[in-house]
Amino acid sequence: MPQKIVAGNWKMNLSLTEGLDLVKGIDACERDQNVRTIVFPPALFVNAIGARASGEIEVGVQNFHPESEGAFTGELSIKQLKSAGATIGLIGHSERRAYFGESNAFLKEKVDAAVNNDFEFIFCCGEPLFIREKNGELDFVKNQLNESLFHLSAEQIQGKIIAYEPVWAIGTGRTASSAQAEDMHKAIRSWIVEKYDQATAESISILYGGSCNRSNANELFSCPNVDGGLIGGASLKADDFCSIINAF
Ligand code: PGA
Repeated sequence: MPQKIVAGNWKMNLSLTEGLDLVKGIDACERDQNVRTIVFPPALFVNAIGARASGEIEVGVQNFHPESEGAFTGELSIKQLKSAGATIGLIGHSERRAYFGESNAFLKEKVDAAVNNDFEFIFCCGEPLFIREKNGELDFVKNQLNESLFHLSAEQIQGKIIAYEPVWAIGTGRTASSAQAEDMHKAIRSWIVEKYDQATAESISILYGGSCNRSNANELFSCPNVDGGLIGGASLKADDFCSIINAF
């Protein structure tokens, strides 16, 4: 059975004080202990948020550079982030792809860097609206996975986390219907079976992201192939985030 996971992507929001208050609030609320809980604050705050969070809340980063060190002004390596307490990173969020020009080839380098440095990651994929409008979403997402993730061996991909985030649903209030989410998640699982095997497919958690909130999380998480969520806006309030964690 894939692990159930709810992760909060804070993006470029919150001051340090607000972030500390938020993680304290999440710690304080009663949460389903079977759900792995991860927060992704701005990298600058990882150390402080990690120190404030109880051991049950994991702290990750929204981005990292694939090189381990060197002349990459403004960037952070896995080695540095791990030394500050980050245990996991996002790869391929649509905002990184769209605003910072991160290509499938570059994301593959990040996947390899993470694997080589024993750093967990959530690999994000998802189609823009114009692709969905011409019914091209399955081919589009399959290509993202083929070009950046599916080169890993069965052993390397074991237990990894994928987040399906349709671009048109991110930050728009327009959630994918549970049927749309399930169709894509089921397809992703079937591609893993085709490429690897059933046991590998069942070891991989596939999260949904895109305007997931306390009102729709239960319906989305009820889908057989939806193993949790990557939450943006609704992860910025402890109550909302905890309701989503408890939505299974
Ligand atoms: P949203 O963002 O929940 O605000 O739509 C999700 C994400 O970008 O991970």
